[in-house]
Amino acid sequence: MKLLIQGAGYIGEVHLKSIVTYKLCEVALCEMNEARLQEVAARYHVTETYTSLDEALQHPFDGVIICTPNFAHKGDMEKCINAGLNVMLEKPMAESLESAEEMYKLCSESGRFAFVAYCLRFASPYQRIKKMIEEGKLGKVFSIRAAVAGKKAISDAKTNYRTVRKLGGGVISDFSHEIDYSLWFAASPVVRVKCIGNQAVHKDWDVLDTAELLIQCENDIILSVHMDFLQPYFGRTIEIYGTKGAIRWRDNECIKFYDMEKDQWEDMDSAINWDHVYRDEVIHYLDCLQNKKRPLIDEKSGYETFKVIAACTKSAEENIFD
Ligand SMILES: NC(=O)c1ccc[n+]([C@@H]2O[C@H](COP(=O)([O-])OP(=O)(O)OC[C@H]3O[C@@H](n4cnc5c(N)ncnc54)[C@H](O)[C@@H]3O)[C@@H](O)[C@H]2O)c1
Repeated sequence: MKLLIQGAGYIGEVHLKSIVTYKLCEVALCEMNEARLQEVAARYHVTETYTSLDEALQHPFDGVIICTPNFAHKGDMEKCINAGLNVMLEKPMAESLESAEEMYKLCSESGRFAFVAYCLRFASPYQRIKKMIEEGKLGKVFSIRAAVAGKKAISDAKTNYRTVRKLGGGVISDFSHEIDYSLWFAASPVVRVKCIGNQAVHKDWDVLDTAELLIQCENDIILSVHMDFLQPYFGRTIEIYGTKGAIRWRDNECIKFYDMEKDQWEDMDSAINWDHVYRDEVIHYLDCLQNKKRPLIDEKSGYETFKVIAACTKSAEENIFD
């Protein structure tokens, strides 16, 4: 199998490194910045390189990993789907709800899939928590609380896709992993959201740098998510409460599980091997391509997550005290 990587920035290089290190498949690289293309291609001994996606798509590939900034996802995905490819697409799906909706429709109409790369689903602690919920270890889950925080050292905030609204920026879209995996854990459609957000420090940005999301699911689980771009350390925490047990996890510690029957807390190993996360994500994509399977996170799932991003952003902007 042969994949094309579109965009050789930070995450494009992560996927390339994984493909080359674990010899997952053949790979070619496309990057509009010629100097960056040559630098990354040389580092991983990639011989097939392109500076334009149109040119690259004249050649045969089994799939493409789209690693360009949020605002370029829709255009790149359209080109790849129209070339007959199923795509792996970096998160979030797009820069706007309108784009995400059009992308979802294009997949449905063309019969192609978009695998939206919310990589935490391939990390063992998240998979372990999901399994514990499914096995009923927590009884009926009624509350999922997640937090993600970390200072973004962004020198080009006026032009960076993370910090400019029209490019798809803002803390809610950049940290939408939390929405994706919380909804995966809850396994139920969203019925309403509320959000309070702030430009607590970055008054000159046109996006939120902090947000508190409340999401209610049809099965009565309430998700509560804190996000900020401000804290000096980067970290994630999860708390899940059910009628028979609870989980508490801070990402550099072990998972703690409270078992009501035993009335005790158990520690569970939960180290993340990031090389394996990215490796397993691409292996999943290759498996879907080779064996005509649907991806774990398809365009519908990516679109549902984007609807929550958009609804929370809208909710944060509506202040009844205005
Ligand atoms: N899954 C994860 O954990 C994770 C981590 C980081 C980034 N991401 C996502 O990956 C995507 C890329 O993020 P990044 O941090 O690698 O970005 P980046 O800025 O480091 O890299 C983007 C690359 O795309 C190239 N590019 C191609 N077409 C472009 C266009 N039309 N406009 C601008 N640049 C273009 C740029 O030259 C650049 O090399 C984003 O959607 C981001 O949210 C995901």
